[in-house]
Amino acid sequence: MCGIVGIVGTRPVAPLIVDALKRLEYRGYDSAGVATIESGVLDRRRAEGKLVNLQDRLDTSPLSGRIGIGHTRWATHGAPIEINAHPHFSGGVAVVHNGIIENFRDLRAALEADGFVFDSQTDTEVVAHLVEKGLRDGLPPEEAAHYAIQKLSGAFALAVMFKNDDNLIVAARNGPPLAIGHGQGEMYLGSDAVALAPFTNRITYLEDGDWAVIRRDELTIFDEHGEAVKRQQQLSVGSALLVDKGNHRHFMLKEIYEQPEVIGHTLANYVDFNAEKIALRDMGDNDNPLDFAKLDRLNITACGTAYLAGYLAKYWFERHARLPVDIDVASEFRYREVPLSKNGLSLFISQSGETADTLAGLKYCEEHGQKLAAIVNVRESTIARSSHSVFPTLAGPEIGVASTKAFTCQLAVLASLAIGAGVQRGHIDPAAETEMVRALAEAPRYANEVLKLEDEIKDLAHTLANKQHVLYLGRDTNYPLAMEGALKLKELSYIHAEAYAAGELKHGPIALIDEEMPVVVIAPHDRIFEKTVSNMQEVAARGGKIILITDPKGAAEVGMDEAKVIVMPEMPEIITPIVYALPIQMLAYHTAVHMGTDVDQPRNLAKSVTVE
Ligand code: AGP
Repeated sequence: MCGIVGIVGTRPVAPLIVDALKRLEYRGYDSAGVATIESGVLDRRRAEGKLVNLQDRLDTSPLSGRIGIGHTRWATHGAPIEINAHPHFSGGVAVVHNGIIENFRDLRAALEADGFVFDSQTDTEVVAHLVEKGLRDGLPPEEAAHYAIQKLSGAFALAVMFKNDDNLIVAARNGPPLAIGHGQGEMYLGSDAVALAPFTNRITYLEDGDWAVIRRDELTIFDEHGEAVKRQQQLSVGSALLVDKGNHRHFMLKEIYEQPEVIGHTLANYVDFNAEKIALRDMGDNDNPLDFAKLDRLNITACGTAYLAGYLAKYWFERHARLPVDIDVASEFRYREVPLSKNGLSLFISQSGETADTLAGLKYCEEHGQKLAAIVNVRESTIARSSHSVFPTLAGPEIGVASTKAFTCQLAVLASLAIGAGVQRGHIDPAAETEMVRALAEAPRYANEVLKLEDEIKDLAHTLANKQHVLYLGRDTNYPLAMEGALKLKELSYIHAEAYAAGELKHGPIALIDEEMPVVVIAPHDRIFEKTVSNMQEVAARGGKIILITDPKGAAEVGMDEAKVIVMPEMPEIITPIVYALPIQMLAYHTAVHMGTDVDQPRNLAKSVTVE
């Protein structure tokens, strides 16, 4: 993810913007830039690498101006070099952007046909040219910005500035968060309230689909239909140092909502969206990059939710890369004395990178001469430092004890690795790779779309609250997802929950079914959907109460009026596990809220289990 800042001020803003960007550097630091307007002149300074390089640039060549926008970047489209650094210009327009614009290729082709010349390889630059096109077509600035925003598809947050109006910034949010700060005769915008803490704690958060016209003495917000709306102004509790909950009741809910952004940010580390190819960025300090073609076995070791991400990836590696996978919980693996192949790879998945059992498993593999790879959310963690290859998730700090965004980012990395392995091992041809990468690029948008199901899921959560037992069922990759759903419910609401492979029900667990037993079934309409439907009918025939998570085709086909159905958008199969994680997270979250448990710090748990 990237960090964006804007100020419509009454004093020189460049130093203030850099100060705010420093608080957003955890979001990425491949490059940074600031643009300001002074006496009708739009100017910018940009620098590769960390913010300190931009500061040096400004020290030697200062920027004046009382209005400006700034950006700290994690490269998604285009190498992390200065020409790709934000802000991007077109004529008298400047833009900074966080997120992914999926349809940038088509937009770029149309704009180039219109005579626009591109300087960068970024998706962002299309926004600047679209706004400039709107201006050339005679639209007033805010309408030109709205015209451009309506053309964009994907998950994005952005800010637009106009050379000819030094009292206007237009901001827009579709996925990644955007906070607007209210000052004394000044207005601010930032990717989160922490960035604005030195200026104000009076914050208005834009909702999804909102766009805002920001002037020194007024803020007008419009919803996706162009209707002026009021959004609550609140006092941010985040200090300039702490990550705060934003406008969410719990860190867990904030982190659920961050998923569209951080999934896109994580994918950008493993996918070349321009070439539409996998581009695995191994952050390990080894000098021999991982070659999946030389491997004959993969063993994955992890705990809890991270283990379930690995379990799910087993289906992907075996199906798409034809690579046999062993998967085990670390607390068992470390004592099983597993025989390991000399051409094998040992992969460790851990949000914290400090889980004792997982680390112990790594030590066992190290002692047996394995190649070691890690998927971690904390880059400088022990597990990362002990591994040859490191594939970080870029979820940002995960505060809620129940893992949510880390899980979906782990899946994003694992999907990229499995596809990359399939390509390296000759089982995925270039056309299939492009198709799968295009599907991955859509994951943030679909994740953002399913967040709109929250109210519906909240209503369903009440049917689970106060139950003694809940069953989760799924087949294929939906089975590990069912296990994750059961784990989330257990650890958050303290309700006993079990997950079964749907086909396994008739071999014993069906004895549990009665009208007191809610059954959550995860079943997108895929090639084994009919099999799962028959399992559901076995449940319904015995009075089980079913909650079915499916897509429009599945909902139309299931024809079971006694099932409560959550209808997900239809999407490419490869990303369903990533996107279907969100409704099961929201179901567990709202059940727990209904039960009144401590959602961010459930009893008996810890965020990182560094003891055996
Ligand atoms: C996830 O919701 C749990 N809090 C827990 O299972 C967690 O996934 C497990 O402890 C592993 O932690 P790690 O990813 O930091 O290694």
